[in-house]
Amino acid sequence: MKVNIPLKKVVDNSYDITIDTLPAIHFDTKVAIVTNPTVAALHLESLLAKISAKELHIITVPDGEEYKNQTSIDLILNSMFENRFNRKSMLIAFGGGVIGDMTGFASSIYQRGIDFVQIPTTLLSQVDASVGGKTGMNNKYGKNLIGAFHQPKAVYIDPSFLETLPSREFGAGVAEIVKMAVTFNRDFFEFLESADLTNKDVLAEVIKRAVQTKANVVAQDEKEHGIRAALNYGHTFGHVIENETKYKRYLHGEAVAIGMVLANMTSMKMGLMSEDEASRVKTLLQKYNLPTSYAIKDIEKFYETFYLDKKSADSAITFILPVGIGNVKITDECEKDLLLSVLDEMGAAR
Ligand code: NAD
Ligand code: GLY
Repeated sequence: MKVNIPLKKVVDNSYDITIDTLPAIHFDTKVAIVTNPTVAALHLESLLAKISAKELHIITVPDGEEYKNQTSIDLILNSMFENRFNRKSMLIAFGGGVIGDMTGFASSIYQRGIDFVQIPTTLLSQVDASVGGKTGMNNKYGKNLIGAFHQPKAVYIDPSFLETLPSREFGAGVAEIVKMAVTFNRDFFEFLESADLTNKDVLAEVIKRAVQTKANVVAQDEKEHGIRAALNYGHTFGHVIENETKYKRYLHGEAVAIGMVLANMTSMKMGLMSEDEASRVKTLLQKYNLPTSYAIKDIEKFYETFYLDKKSADSAITFILPVGIGNVKITDECEKDLLLSVLDEMGAAR
């Protein structure tokens, strides 16, 4: 005997991403702003001048990737229970990608899911993490291994928050912008080559183009069954570098920058990218003081660490390889010998 539940509903998860000075917003419900002490000290006062709600709470979690864990999620959820949040209540993520991912995840599981809004304050979170609904936390087995796809109701990107961002963090955001241009948008890449990101209008334009690029990809493949995986360009190599350096030496975007160089070297060996194109990508990364080389001590060990990447299905390792600039190939068919020769070359480039 079978009972069928017809659940083929079309769910409209569409939302707007506003790139502008933060407008005044009133929420006619109970709201908690989730932030950390660094962002709160710099920007909470100005945020509170804009945001009002029927009842407004602030939840502060410690700052740092090492706190992107169950303890912080419990802190957020407990505060919501203690303040009697219901299914119409809302969370606002106010911070970088760590705050955004955790706030989104907490809102995805609180009473089986409530709404949340993203107000990202780092370049990386403005151009990447706040858009697309990937939420989650880390555990002892790795980064972002627990999570949910849960789209925000709205994203408000105010580039003026970036005025207090340390330059290394800014560079890490640029790496993710370059990632989107190389994989999907040659015109955007060429624009970036001559762009002056110290100019506010140019920066806003770059954020808009990066967000538009990501939004197009997410609209095609919300849950990463295909093309969205291309946004992991540089990440397969980058994750190994982060792992080898215990997440201490490089910011995520910096490791991704080195990873993109390695992916480009792989593409070159496979005849997918010219030397000139690979060199243009490297030059752009170097313009923002991003690292483009890494001393690989043990290439076999580096290769084995690929298998820790959660995006690898069983034993196949997925590589995102640029095809020239502005196009991309997702493949799990990279010869081990070819990869070892790329790693060897990078090792030799110390
Ligand atoms: P982060 O959130 O740790 O922020 C970096 C540092 O900048 C922190 O110390 C933070 O307190 C501080 N900061 C934030 N805003 C500031 C401001 N305006 N001025 C000064 N300091 C400020 O790091 P991140 O780079 O924003 O995000 C990285 C996280 O994002 C990772 O956990 C990664 O997994 C996640 N991520 C998620 C997605 C996604 O699609 N969901 C995409 C990319 C990255
Ligand atoms: N940062 C990769 C993605 O959102 O899919």
